Amino acid sequence: MPDFRTLDKALATLQASDSVKEILRDLHVQALTEIPYVSTDDQPAGVALQRFVALEPDKLLLRASRATHVVEAGTSFGVSTIWLALAVSQNAAFSGGHGKVIATENETVKADRARRHWAQLGDAVLPWIDLRLEDIRESLKTNLPEQIDFVLLDIWSYLALPTLKLVQPKLRVGATIVVDNAIAAAEGYKDFHAYIEDPKNGFKNTMVPYTGGLQVIVYVGKQGQ
Ligand SMILES: C[S@@+](CC[C@H](N)C(=O)[O-])C[C@H]1O[C@@H](n2cnc3c(N)ncnc32)[C@H](O)[C@@H]1O
Repeated sequence: MPDFRTLDKALATLQASDSVKEILRDLHVQALTEIPYVSTDDQPAGVALQRFVALEPDKLLLRASRATHVVEAGTSFGVSTIWLALAVSQNAAFSGGHGKVIATENETVKADRARRHWAQLGDAVLPWIDLRLEDIRESLKTNLPEQIDFVLLDIWSYLALPTLKLVQPKLRVGATIVVDNAIAAAEGYKDFHAYIEDPKNGFKNTMVPYTGGLQVIVYVGKQGQ
């Protein structure tokens, strides 16, 4: 049986109604205990267990930076999207009520389930989510906000660099990018890391010692920007 202490700690500090917290907890428990959904292009077993560890830093960084325009690369059943949408809804109070999480998924079965989860939470999250059901390399080509504040890269590693290059022109200087499993999947992230480490591309980064390695990247802007 998985250990739910990290989840309960995260929920304890979440600013949301008791019913929202209860539904969110149920979704996490389901995600951690049910037999994994197998797609043709799935990640190794065990990833689900590590994934919600990322929520603590995500939550902290999102609230602290007052990010309102967020891109989530890899939505799956929409659980992380809920945390992002709740944070954006609260941050939007400081920026004229505007904000959105662009959620991306290319598998219909997963997107349908994500929609059902969000519907359970209703207005607490629905107005804040723009789901794009398409290959991310297409769905992020158009209709991006003028400024992106935060990106969660929780997608297959070979898609990290193409995704970053699509959003980079819209990244606000100071925008944060969080990459899950950056050490565990380091082999797949080789091109991505080389790009991030090259100073001419305008990024600074650090690795936070969570299981699998959680990389936090800040966009400092290209020279002359
Ligand atoms: C690790 S999961 C995301 C988990 C989610 N962030 C969460 O914590 O609940 C990565 C997702 O990316 C999706 N994905 C893979 N390739 C994709 C592509 N080319 N375009 C859009 N989504 C893709 C997968 O179907 C999978 O659901």
